Amino acid sequence: MKPPRPVPLRSVRVTGATDRQVTFRGAGLSGELTVLAPDLFRLRIHRGAPHPAPASWAVGTTDWPAVDTMIRRSARRVDVRTAGGQWTLDLARGAWQVTDPGGLVVFDAPSEGTRFEGRAAALELRLAEREALFGLGETTGQFNKRGLVREFWNIDVLGHSPAIHPGLRHLYVSIPFALSLRDGRAAGLFWDNPTRQSWDLGQSASDRWRLRAEDGEIDLYLFLGPSLPGVVERYTALTGRIPLPPRWALGYQQSRYGYESAARVDQVARELRRRHIPCDVLHLDIHHLDGHRVFTFGKGFPDPGRWIARLARRGFRVVGIVDPGVKDDPRFGVLRRGRQAGAFVRDAGGREDFLGEVWPGRARFPDFLNASARKWWGDEQAALTGLGVAGFWNDMNEPANFARPDKTLPPDARHTTDHGPAAHRDVHNVYGMQMARASREGALRHAPDRRPYVITRSTYAGGQRDAVVWTGDNSSHWDHLADAVQMLLNLGLSGVANCGADVGGFRDGCTGELLARWTQMAAFTPFFRNHSDLGTIDQEPWAFGPEVEAVCRAYIGLRYRMVPGWTCLLAEARATGAPPMRPLAWHYQNDPVAVACGDQFLLGRDLMVAPVLRQGATARSVYLPNDVWFDFWTGERLTGGTHHLADAPLECLPLFVRAGAILPLMDPVEHLDGPAPRTVTLNLFPGPEGRLDWYEDDGLTQAYERGGCHRRTLTSTTRRRTLRLEFDAPTGDRTSDVVDWQLIVWDAGPRTRLRVDGREVSGEHLADSRLFTARVANQPGGFTAEISRL
Ligand code: GLC
Repeated sequence: MKPPRPVPLRSVRVTGATDRQVTFRGAGLSGELTVLAPDLFRLRIHRGAPHPAPASWAVGTTDWPAVDTMIRRSARRVDVRTAGGQWTLDLARGAWQVTDPGGLVVFDAPSEGTRFEGRAAALELRLAEREALFGLGETTGQFNKRGLVREFWNIDVLGHSPAIHPGLRHLYVSIPFALSLRDGRAAGLFWDNPTRQSWDLGQSASDRWRLRAEDGEIDLYLFLGPSLPGVVERYTALTGRIPLPPRWALGYQQSRYGYESAARVDQVARELRRRHIPCDVLHLDIHHLDGHRVFTFGKGFPDPGRWIARLARRGFRVVGIVDPGVKDDPRFGVLRRGRQAGAFVRDAGGREDFLGEVWPGRARFPDFLNASARKWWGDEQAALTGLGVAGFWNDMNEPANFARPDKTLPPDARHTTDHGPAAHRDVHNVYGMQMARASREGALRHAPDRRPYVITRSTYAGGQRDAVVWTGDNSSHWDHLADAVQMLLNLGLSGVANCGADVGGFRDGCTGELLARWTQMAAFTPFFRNHSDLGTIDQEPWAFGPEVEAVCRAYIGLRYRMVPGWTCLLAEARATGAPPMRPLAWHYQNDPVAVACGDQFLLGRDLMVAPVLRQGATARSVYLPNDVWFDFWTGERLTGGTHHLADAPLECLPLFVRAGAILPLMDPVEHLDGPAPRTVTLNLFPGPEGRLDWYEDDGLTQAYERGGCHRRTLTSTTRRRTLRLEFDAPTGDRTSDVVDWQLIVWDAGPRTRLRVDGREVSGEHLADSRLFTARVANQPGGFTAEISRL
């Protein structure tokens, strides 16, 4: 078949301009450039005459404040300028560029580069020589995506490795958003189009980025940066930010496919407590269902309400799996009610529900794109809420359908969406996201006072508003441990600040060494769950003997001690979009070595995590960017701007703290269900400057959305052997649970003294004489602690 004749953007004339928008027409095309913010432009190009944009599933914010914009038109070009940069369109050639205020080209679309080809929409951008590309949501492979081809088409893929599936280019999640970084300057591009997209990021031509959507229009959001955090802040202002998880979800979570009975789950719960391995959450995979019927409990789980309440008394919450496929059993109430509500996706003819096949056998698929179907589903979910199930694990929601070679619904299956009828192919990528939305909205309706907790396998841009994302069926392979690091970093850059990978690997048998290394790494990832496949060997922390168990216990324990810091980081993610788990580039974007580094990460600004990702390794090279650092384990001071060789015997994950940091820790606990800590330890690492955005709330309800929280900024500065720690006055409706701050000053001299608001407070040196400690009463207003003679 001859390829369709391209219809490029060219021979353009400007048809109108307002204070923030230019509209234009070319041969067979129309478009508009709208300024949403000084650093955010939206470029729409579509076929035919001007018409309103199709509704977006991703975009959460549409009313943007006015922006000072200058629009200049001439016979040859049109320029739109803000304080953040400029968009220029060459009218005859259809080439367009975005430049920064200094004139540096940020996006560069050549003539003929913006075009339609039959139903497909295509875009070509020049790549600069040293441009790196990040984001793209969840993709396998290298950290910097330049040189790869990646697609956006959500699929169920077991053991997602190129080694298992050669040529694998897409997974469960589609986020067509990339961040570019060149010579220290960041920018971002989001193509809001849920049809299948394919992005060639410099593979077929090393200086070209070729983007293509199967259908729909060109609808680009161009983020001008120039900082990486700035791009993510804007992107998440546009598409939304994560909700705060309940406090218990910051703990360790244990799962497997499948704990086949309540007795087996009880046994796991008992082992966790007996062995003093902290844990808050137990997951129920599909074995708990009655014949794979969603929202039910089968024979192995008699009296689930009482059983869940019993677990709760021991500090365990239960999260239940929820798959979309509803068993086609006429006696099954969920099916009957769903049919009555007309809530299922229809086949191509539009008269009958589409029938596919998933775990329950023949199954129908709820049309989550429809508000009344979402409501029905959320109401069915109340069956679980009523039994005390605390969270919902939305799986198989690409959606998976075993009955077709493409493993999903037919492209011409029919949805009745909130925005009108649609063929499956046009909305496929938002199905999982809308399922998670139904789940979150239902949870909020049925337990308005509880903070919902939803985990999803599949989603689209903006899906971070509703659910945590876990990266699906990885394998117990060393390369998947390494892959998890870059996947989670790139997910975080793509708005999904709360994410995680199955600890120990899902598919295939784990080994003790791999589990130890994986648990060490994952203790620093937001979603921290050990999970494994049916038929694989046991993978609980004690499954490989005492040495591995001790490593797991220590790192899970450290994770719990860090919960106050996690609470602050997630609140920051909610407020600004900044992911807790950050690539080095986040804070050091002008340092090319830091930018390239995808096998270490920062937790917040100050903690450098250098996981061991290679079998047998007992040391690793760690890059410390240009700051002073402390080895967390030895207290040794290290100079950054270079690589260090860190010792890493099995029990050690190399960890470094930036000088200036204020690192909060709490006392060890075995679960988070008790009261919030009354004493919090602040580890102070003398250095030029540091800051902690302290945050507390009740950890359980939605009150934080209405001001029910406690915030205050702590700053640390060290000058001439004196560290000043300032607590500013708190804000928010809640008083702090903290009664005392236990200060621990690292690298202190023998005659260290402490004054609080000028008054001497006594302290002592710990066994390690370089650690000075003192207890300081918390105060409702601002106060200052001064530690001198360091
Ligand atoms: C899918 C999920 C996996 C789960 C299994 C059985 O493969 O990704 O986590 O254990 O289904 O429900």
